[in-house]
Amino acid sequence: GKGGYDHFMLKEIHEQPTALAQAIEGRVDSETPAIRLEDFRNGTFDGVENVQLVACGTSYHAALYGSLALNRAGVRATALLANEYSASSPPIDDGTLVIAVTQSGETADTLNALRRANADGARTLTVTNVVGSTAARTADDALFIRAGPEIGVAATKTFSSQVVMLLLLAQRITDDARGEPAADLDALLSELRRMPDRLDALLSWSDAEAIARRYDGSQSYFFIGRGLGFSVALEGALKFKEITYGHAEGFASGELKHGPLALVTPETPVFAVFTGREDEKTLKNAEEAQTRGAPIVAVCPDGHRAVDVADAHLEIPETHPALAGLFANVQLQLVSYHAASLLDRPIDKPRNLAKSVTVE
Ligand code: F6R
Repeated sequence: GKGGYDHFMLKEIHEQPTALAQAIEGRVDSETPAIRLEDFRNGTFDGVENVQLVACGTSYHAALYGSLALNRAGVRATALLANEYSASSPPIDDGTLVIAVTQSGETADTLNALRRANADGARTLTVTNVVGSTAARTADDALFIRAGPEIGVAATKTFSSQVVMLLLLAQRITDDARGEPAADLDALLSELRRMPDRLDALLSWSDAEAIARRYDGSQSYFFIGRGLGFSVALEGALKFKEITYGHAEGFASGELKHGPLALVTPETPVFAVFTGREDEKTLKNAEEAQTRGAPIVAVCPDGHRAVDVADAHLEIPETHPALAGLFANVQLQLVSYHAASLLDRPIDKPRNLAKSVTVE
């Protein structure tokens, strides 16, 4: 059942602290510090020179987040839409690892990309929630996110768990490929260990509902961010359109001035995601929208300079820059949920959508 919540989506949003604790259980040792993922059939990742992450929808946003983490750790990585893969896949060679990111493990587009990567001789791995899924059986190796079943059509807890597993995997791949752990691994792991408690706290003090009320009835909703914040902006907008049916778009902050700014009016609130990297630039981009009358909602820690500039604030805790986007995403999940709830939408089963898309 829904465990006392009105919708599975809200229940699953609140399950995120537990889901993350399960994801890292036994896999993170913040003392050493070390990451202990399961043994992969194909051994270590020491021959891996480039990584292609393939996925759709929310899983694609997690893949984008993961690709940046890999790049920052020094491994060439690209996130690709699985449904574009056959039309535009980059070349595969001996050093290529293809990672299929899929909650259900049954998404036709993602399975097609995975099969093609197998056929082209790439080493393959899936990051999935479902043990025994087609993806788990098709890839050379599987890494399970252990988020537990997700019933709501809109993916929530599985996004967070996918991102955390990709962050761990990125460390593991770079460690194997370079023979030494990343410089700030201990900082990342100790923040990761604290994350379930801090998420629990955020879920109790979040004022996302008040923000949803305040901007209810707007014409369009824009989400902007840079780097990891860009993937969160895309995910924030996808969730918003899926369950509210309102128009929402996610943009890279710096892209606003290259076109989308023409859409900005006092009727288009802009949610600006700050993840602690190049925040000044994102703030400047947000102010460009504000000058055109758009209300700005800053998603950032208390005391951040964006708070003084913005019209509204969605608070996230101070944390490791690799994790800030996850907290921001949870706040945006709540905004979408409450906005949809005000509109009385069928939140767990939005029109025209299915939980698992098994057709191409
Ligand atoms: C969005 C959503 C979809 C899925 C996509 C991929 O809330 O749920 O965009 O993320 O259909 O599904 P999986 O991860 O099962 O491959």
